[in-house]
Amino acid sequence: MKISIAKRLALMFALAVLLIMSISATLLRSSLKQSLDEQMQNELVLRHSVLDPVLAKYDSPTFWVGLRQKLDGLTPADERVRYWILVDNPAFSYGGPMPDGQDWSKRADGLFSLQLPGRERECPMMVLLKTIPAMGNRPELRFIVGLDSTPFRKTLNHFTKILILTSALGIGLVALLGYWIARFGLGPVRRLSRQANSLPPGDSKQRLDTEALPAELQELAVSFNGALARQETAWCQLEGFNANVAHELRTPLTNLIGQTQVALAHGRDVGELQDLLQSNLEELERMGGIVNDMLFLAGAESGQRATELSDVSLYEEASKTVEYLEPVLHDKQLSVEIHGDMRVCIDRRLFHRSLANLIQNAARYAVPTSIITVSLVSHGMQVEVSVSNAGEPIDTVHLERLFERFYRADAARARSDAHHGLGLSIVRAVASMHGGRVFAHSENGFNTFGFSLMNQAAP
Ligand SMILES: Nc1ncnc2c1ncn2[C@@H]1O[C@H](COP(=O)(O)OP(=O)(O)OP(=O)(O)O)[C@@H](O)[C@H]1O
Ligand SMILES: [Mg+2]
Repeated sequence: MKISIAKRLALMFALAVLLIMSISATLLRSSLKQSLDEQMQNELVLRHSVLDPVLAKYDSPTFWVGLRQKLDGLTPADERVRYWILVDNPAFSYGGPMPDGQDWSKRADGLFSLQLPGRERECPMMVLLKTIPAMGNRPELRFIVGLDSTPFRKTLNHFTKILILTSALGIGLVALLGYWIARFGLGPVRRLSRQANSLPPGDSKQRLDTEALPAELQELAVSFNGALARQETAWCQLEGFNANVAHELRTPLTNLIGQTQVALAHGRDVGELQDLLQSNLEELERMGGIVNDMLFLAGAESGQRATELSDVSLYEEASKTVEYLEPVLHDKQLSVEIHGDMRVCIDRRLFHRSLANLIQNAARYAVPTSIITVSLVSHGMQVEVSVSNAGEPIDTVHLERLFERFYRADAARARSDAHHGLGLSIVRAVASMHGGRVFAHSENGFNTFGFSLMNQAAP
């Protein structure tokens, strides 16, 4: 069962108040108990202070007769206060029976809590014992004044009940108020959710209004708007991408249709038809190439990882790629230098494909007779592969977008038949399939494009 935030907060407030009330009620109760005990003690001390000197002063049994009457008079009918004089000589004793086996030496201050026989169900008596030294004919006495603790206990119990009641009432009120406050406080969340629900479908430009929101929700709304902006970008890219695919396929298709129509309209001999079929095959292969690249990119974007891994020397693999591209380099009399080497576990087929794309680009844009540099640098579990060539500087606006599909910086050559603007996106896909990333910079007359790969070897 899902509990709403308002209910959850109300419950937490109630629990907090329960804790606070329990602690303060316990403290209050124990402080009241202590002051009631002190009060009883003071009363006992007061009575002793009046009677002790009288008892100490006289030793005649005749005086004791009068004293007994006086003590009887001081004992109220409800026996809330009692007196005992404990002594072996009955001429000097007073009061009823005391519990057997009471050890009066147990407490030095003479304070005891006694459950008297016949009062089992009631509260105990608090008694204070003082020893009156022997004098003349009179032996040593133990004079005890007792005070019934029932009224004090009743006061304490009554106070405890009131404390429990007020605490329960307080907790209930706080829970109710807490619920109301939380609901009121969560108003902006509800408004935000209504706003998000009312965003019209199909309008990717719509954003949440963050101005009127409290600080805590502003962050959430800004993140949500960020997600919307990313969706919009993705949506625009997808739309642009569809247009690009259509455009890239339209040119070879138009060529194929045109050439086939011309061939059908005029009679052609076998040789001419063979030439036509050969040229059509090239167009078809190019179209097939685009479709295959698209499928490869789609696979990488859906999170496909490199699987055909082998432990290789990057220098050796890069040399093989350069060797394979020798004809491309030869045209502009370019040479390639490879720096660095390390052994890594990667998909070599994908590595060749990426590096070949970068070297082909470099060869296309390099100054004739210049040197193309391939650098292999290791950073812990990562290796960085970069290809650098001397060439025209690339504007930063383009640099950031060159790895996008079909994006080309040079508009003049943009729609060339041979190049579709997919090479760098494939480099990016290969990097992501190896847990790496791509980078590009253009400085001091050199343009550098590269990618990183995570060494896929098990740690
Ligand atoms: N070394 C480089 N120097 C200058 N510009 C470059 C370099 N490499 C890439 N570019 C720019 O980046 C664009 C995209 O490159 P990418 O490899 O993705 O596509 P392409 O080479 O045009 O086509 P494809 O690789 O599909 O044959 C190029 O069109 C070019 O404008
Ligand atoms: Mg390319």
